[in-house]
Amino acid sequence: MPLVPMRQILDEAAKGGYGVGAFNVNNMEQIQAIMQAAHDTKSPVIIQASRGALKYSKMIYLRNLIAAATEEFPEIPLTMHLDHGNSVETCQQAIELGFTSVMIDGSLAEDGKTINDYAANVAITKKVVEMAHPLGVSVEGELGALGGIEDGHGAGLSTDEVEKHLTNPEEAESFVAETGLDALAVAIGTSHGAYKGSRKDPKTGETLPPLLAMDRIREIHKRMPNCHMVMHGSSSVPKKLVDIINQYGGRMPDAAGVALDDIQEGIRNGVRKINVDTDSRLAMTGAARKVFAETPEKFDPRDWLGPAREAAYEVYVERMNAFGQAGHAGDYEPMTLDDIKSVYCSGGCCCNG
Ligand code: G3H
Ligand code: 13P
Ligand code: ZN
Repeated sequence: MPLVPMRQILDEAAKGGYGVGAFNVNNMEQIQAIMQAAHDTKSPVIIQASRGALKYSKMIYLRNLIAAATEEFPEIPLTMHLDHGNSVETCQQAIELGFTSVMIDGSLAEDGKTINDYAANVAITKKVVEMAHPLGVSVEGELGALGGIEDGHGAGLSTDEVEKHLTNPEEAESFVAETGLDALAVAIGTSHGAYKGSRKDPKTGETLPPLLAMDRIREIHKRMPNCHMVMHGSSSVPKKLVDIINQYGGRMPDAAGVALDDIQEGIRNGVRKINVDTDSRLAMTGAARKVFAETPEKFDPRDWLGPAREAAYEVYVERMNAFGQAGHAGDYEPMTLDDIKSVYCSGGCCCNG
């Protein structure tokens, strides 16, 4: 099956009332683990690559690994998405490479750090929509700013600053209408990486998940019932994975992720794309550390990459079941980029249209 436009995957998820995991990849093992999990759970899925991933893996290798994935699992609706694109040029490059969906993160300036104002965000997002839609490529935009910083991307906001940059539902409505985008990433208090919480459990001293502004999600959904929302920074940072890392020589005190209950509440209120990267990193690193610690005589990379791939697979299966996408791979006839063009009306038809 050729790559599917993300818009179709999200439209179908909305019809079925489920969410779809968008998993970040940098290498072959992650792609294989995601595809095996999607096959075993019968899930449509989104694979995404950040600018850092494209630099690390070199675009051409990733593109061909994804092509191999579609060949091995032709029954799985799969989108290849650019995560946190920072300019029209980066999005254009991804489209030329065959990505069927791009994110233009206009919440930040091209440096990936400075917070953009609303007008600048609308202007760049609209530009990317105008370039992508005539080609049938889907577009995700972001309003509000996330906490945390990954690979140099992010404003590095403190908890207090995050509060000031949560998505404003009224602004979200005009942002969607003015840009014509397909999916809206919202800032509700999540952040990238493994340290999402600052509150401590007074009894155990453990770091608690962040308190998310779920009311913003509910309000946006009420205003725009057809708008597909995206939750970034949605790794759950499971204690069992962090414990393995720490047990085998790692040092990750105070790691904490988003509560799965909050994600599921989001899905009931219009969240359709859930971004997960950190959880697969944790699983793979823990599995590799275990091999190194328990069998120091081993030196064949397959001896630790294999278990790392297996550990990531377990995470993907869990998430696909929890987000509800499991079982939905065969629900619909996949569209091509040419097919989806007709969905977009001449003026640009946003997800709320
Ligand atoms: O946007 C955040 C993702 O986790 C990507 O991270 O830029 O380190 O590849 P990265
Ligand atoms: P995590 O760091 O929570 O996995 O978030 C990933 C993400 O949002 C990628 O865009
Ligand atoms: Zn993100």
